[in-house]
Amino acid sequence: ETLEWDAEAAGKSGYDHYMLKEIHEQPRALRQAISGRIDDLGTEVELDVGLPEEYLHSLEEIQIIACGTSYHAGLYAKELLETHADIRVTVHIASEYEFTGDRDPWRTLVLAITQSGETADTLSALREANRAGARSLALTNTLGSTVTREVDDTIFIRAGPEIGVAATKTFVSQVATATLLTVHLGMIRGSLTGQTVDALLNSIQDLPGAVQQILDQESTIKRAAQQYADSDAFFYIGRQAGYPVAIESALKLKEIAYDHAEGFPAGELKHGPLALVTPDTPVIALLTAGTNAEKTQHNITEVASRGAPTIGLTGSPDVDPDLDLTFEIPECGLMEPVAANVALQLFAYHVANEKERPIDKPRNLAKSVTVE
Ligand code: G6P
Repeated sequence: ETLEWDAEAAGKSGYDHYMLKEIHEQPRALRQAISGRIDDLGTEVELDVGLPEEYLHSLEEIQIIACGTSYHAGLYAKELLETHADIRVTVHIASEYEFTGDRDPWRTLVLAITQSGETADTLSALREANRAGARSLALTNTLGSTVTREVDDTIFIRAGPEIGVAATKTFVSQVATATLLTVHLGMIRGSLTGQTVDALLNSIQDLPGAVQQILDQESTIKRAAQQYADSDAFFYIGRQAGYPVAIESALKLKEIAYDHAEGFPAGELKHGPLALVTPDTPVIALLTAGTNAEKTQHNITEVASRGAPTIGLTGSPDVDPDLDLTFEIPECGLMEPVAANVALQLFAYHVANEKERPIDKPRNLAKSVTVE
């Protein structure tokens, strides 16, 4: 008697898709990203950045270059770095990047964020910055990748291999690692109080547990996905760190469900996109810590009065606008929007699954795009 053995099924460890497996791997991926990088007392970051401290101290600008999901992680990193490391950050879609203006290359650090380390657009932008004499750092998941050979130093996100074309665990690991980098730079630059360091480090350390609690709510999220799967379009709104999560969550839905989805800064709705809102366009709002949720509540009232179904992601019982559905986000400070992203990964997954899409290999897309 022979045992049937299917390598692909074995790789998915019982999950229907790699994407779902990778979503469920996030608590572990996050623990790996953090492991050994916070001291035993939980008060300092031990991140090995091989650039001189005096250089990091005198930096004037960080230019982040990235594509796709990594670009969204870059927008999140900007929120953190500008607020806590006292440094100006610009985030560039790699294919649009030019090293221009009167920037001093010696005071400009280029941070390439790329899961694969092989994206042609990102490498091409990096080469332009290198030619101009800027120093560079990579944030990547892939040991030995091309990007690691072309930068001054690399920080690995340690998410483990990601097979699903739609990035999930690598996004949360990128943001968690960027948070460690923020604390590292903030300490060197003297811009962080002990209290803020504690708050940031606590929030990173709480994140794996918070993500696990979200995974435990999967059946609720799945029901919501089934309820709204046939909608005309999906709109995601958020402010501050909620904005990158809104556009990242919309991208997930486009990629795997082939539905029209857009993310907007919540305040921009009234300046145009509100015209798209109907009873067939659910509006999904980021209402956690770090998203200026009080203001976004008004936007929920705006869309609800046009008949749109509303779903809120919230960590606070004080935020209680008139929502049709709520996904509870456990408390984890400034990492709450990342935790909310995990709930919205599950939402996108279950919408796509309801439509029987080929989730791990969406049409027209590739995991790593090596042409410009
Ligand atoms: C492709 C993938 C996306 C990814 C982007 C950037 O388009 O389909 O999921 O976000 O490349 O990839 P990188 O490896 O540079 O992060």
